[in-house]
Amino acid sequence: MGGASTVAALAGGTFGLNLVRAAPANAAAHRNRRIPFGACVNVGPLQKDAEYRAAFVAYCQQLVPEGGMYWYDLRPNRDQFNFGIADTILTFADANEMPMRGHTLVWYGAMPEWTKQISSAAEAERELTLHIERVVSRYRGKIRTWHVVNEPIDDPVAGKPVGLRPSVWLQNLGSKHIDLAFRLAHQVDPSAELLLNEFGVESAGADAEAKRQALLALVRDLLARGAPLHGVGLQGHLPGKVEIDRDRLSQLVSEFRSLGLSVHVTEFDVADDELPASPAVRDAIVAARAYDLLEAVFAATRPAAVFTWGITDRYTWIPMWHKRADGLINRPLPLDQNYRPKPLWSVIDYFCGQTG
Ligand code: XIL
Repeated sequence: MGGASTVAALAGGTFGLNLVRAAPANAAAHRNRRIPFGACVNVGPLQKDAEYRAAFVAYCQQLVPEGGMYWYDLRPNRDQFNFGIADTILTFADANEMPMRGHTLVWYGAMPEWTKQISSAAEAERELTLHIERVVSRYRGKIRTWHVVNEPIDDPVAGKPVGLRPSVWLQNLGSKHIDLAFRLAHQVDPSAELLLNEFGVESAGADAEAKRQALLALVRDLLARGAPLHGVGLQGHLPGKVEIDRDRLSQLVSEFRSLGLSVHVTEFDVADDELPASPAVRDAIVAARAYDLLEAVFAATRPAAVFTWGITDRYTWIPMWHKRADGLINRPLPLDQNYRPKPLWSVIDYFCGQTG
């Protein structure tokens, strides 16, 4: 009887077999089979808070910029490209050997004022083409994954078919701007993984259901038209009070997988403004939402990555829209404002560690 099995037999006899774990044959390979976890990085605290930097190094395998790649950051004026913030975050990512993804090439939000002057299809196509060529080529070989089109589906209105979200691109080019963006990005960097990123498709309720159907229809149309779309990002910005619709979310993920697409959780956080005051109760609900979301996704596939929209409650966009009336700080993220891991972190760590 070999040494290892003797120990196993003894431990099994004494403590019960469930305590016996064989050491993985190759610990590094084992670790590498983890699903990469990442979070968005904000350049402000990145430059002034050493604990913030350390948290990414300790917890993340991938990063995405919170800002710096929005149109208003990259192109404050029509003729000026400003890569400073994006480059600063990329330098941090490179120094720590973490891939950084690109967020985002086409979004209705975070647009500079001057884009309101765009008033024809030709002008819109010219600006979009220039933008994608400049930005994607600058980061070719460095940014391997792009959130090409962000939040294209409009908010559902009861009784009406769900449409595309108004934007300068939709207004001037119609829905073909989505195809165009994917084609351009693919032309410029044929090896980059190109994602469509959307929110509001995880929860229970009629609006989320309408949005799930609209998203699936859009994805099918894009693929039918031959757009180089490689994956779907489920943002996971969740309303705290609403349950996840696990069955419908699982089915949606299965549909994407059967279309050959990768599936990513890209921006998880929970709006906790209407949840009870008790931090422990709130943390438990936030963790439960993540558990339900990840369980539903994992029931259909292993996601390519899991991201939260920030790493610490110290710096989060949630209070911009979801400040609590009682003045307590929001608690949407894996680490609290003092960088202590919360139950949400345990849930993420559990799922990302599933090596199956
Ligand atoms: C938010 C940022 O966190 C804010 O700092 C910024 O002012 C606005 O955008 N969906 C997205 C993200 O894809 O880009 C948004 O980020 C949050 C919603």
